Amino acid sequence: MHARPILTIPLYILLNLSYASSQLILTLSWNSLKQDIYRFSYMATFIKLFVNTLFIMSLLASANNAQLINNFYGKTCPSLQTIVRNTMTNAIKTEARIGASILRLFFHDCFVNGCDASILLDDTVTFVGEKNAAPNKNSARGFEVIDTIKTSVEAACNATVSCADILALAARDGVFLLGGPTWVVPLGRRDARTASQSAANSQIPSPFSDLSTLTTMFSNKGLTINDLTVLSGAHTIGQGECQFFRTRIYNETNIDTSFATLRKSNCPVSGGDTNLAPLDTLTPTTFDNNYYKDLIASKGLFHSDQVLFNNGTQDNLVRTYSTNGAKFSSDFAVAMVKLSKISPLTGTNGEIRKNCRLVN
Ligand code: HEM
Ligand SMILES: *[C@@H]1O[C@H](CO)[C@@H](O)[C@H](O)[C@H]1NC(C)=O
Ligand SMILES: *[C@@H]1O[C@H](CO)[C@@H](O)[C@H](O)[C@H]1NC(C)=O
Ligand SMILES: *[C@@H]1O[C@H](CO)[C@@H](O)[C@H](O)[C@H]1NC(C)=O
Repeated sequence: MHARPILTIPLYILLNLSYASSQLILTLSWNSLKQDIYRFSYMATFIKLFVNTLFIMSLLASANNAQLINNFYGKTCPSLQTIVRNTMTNAIKTEARIGASILRLFFHDCFVNGCDASILLDDTVTFVGEKNAAPNKNSARGFEVIDTIKTSVEAACNATVSCADILALAARDGVFLLGGPTWVVPLGRRDARTASQSAANSQIPSPFSDLSTLTTMFSNKGLTINDLTVLSGAHTIGQGECQFFRTRIYNETNIDTSFATLRKSNCPVSGGDTNLAPLDTLTPTTFDNNYYKDLIASKGLFHSDQVLFNNGTQDNLVRTYSTNGAKFSSDFAVAMVKLSKISPLTGTNGEIRKNCRLVN
């Protein structure tokens, strides 16, 4: 049991509530208890103490199960959202792709033990983090921007805002600044004191996955196959490495021939593993619905993209998004909020990291 949360609850509320609850429980169990209480007056005192203890324990438990809320930092860090927006604006001015990179960081954070900033932790001699897991190694990027935001946020309101919340807001702003939708991010996440390289290896989907595997992996996180299809629309921005699409452009048949030829020009059969290609061949720095037009034209870059339009169950939704950009935008926003709520640490769980790369 930690003492901290008790101190954060005004004492008079605690006393009133615990008194009320002990009265209630004593009344409810009165019939069975009154004889004993008459006989042994000390027992009533004991029961009250016991009930109070139970009540405080349940308060602690509910503090740990607290919901995320929209204006969590409204009083404690009113400048938070402006700081994140301004830093993201500058970062995207320097390099548009960084908005994509931070969106991907957020996805990879949330899919490994929830949105708890575990992906931001550096490896040390005594700590194995997620940065060197296969889906992240040499491809997860944007950490320096999160550091910059965190430094400004600490200067404005120290020891208050979690790195997990900063990442959720930065991902939202990256999408918006590249022309996509915006949404209200529920806040109050806390930062993990642990990370899991093995979970990062096994729970983040691979670009070689089939639709059934992707569906299962999303379902394991409480996300539906339609969430999968709309969130994959994130591939309307950003870049991918040759090693992840080589098999597709050389060996698959559900691919546009001229598109395959174009991609082969910078992705040889061997070598050039880290050569980049845009995920959306049409507008890679604009968050729009062109990703779905690519899929319909058999120009999905990864196997895991094209499976969404391959004579399967998602074809109709892909068609809808390809012609209805507004529906894509609003469904994407809803799905991002859902993604952002995957098993957050709240209340007294986890911590507010001082430095996003290190546990306190
Ligand atoms: C459905 C399963 C998914 C798979 C298999 C997948 C796989 C990948 C791969 C292999 C890359 C290229 C990384 C590199 O070459 O460095 C990539 C990039 C990217 N992914 Fe995904 N992804 C998936 C879903 C998502 C989701 C749900 C989001 C966000 C909501 C997302 C956002 C991005 C973005 C924005 C990029 C570009 C990053 C950059 O340019 O730095 N992806 N993804
Ligand atoms: C926050 O800042 C105040 C004033 O600079 C300082 O005294 C305090 O130790 C800081 N708190 C933490 C947890 O760093
Ligand atoms: C294409 O498939 C063949 C036969 O399965 C395999 O030997 C080859 O390595 C594959 N090429 C690429 C680039 O994946
Ligand atoms: C879908 O099925 C049709 C009709 O069987 C076929 O012509 C087409 O090539 C298939 N498309 C894909 C992407 O498999």
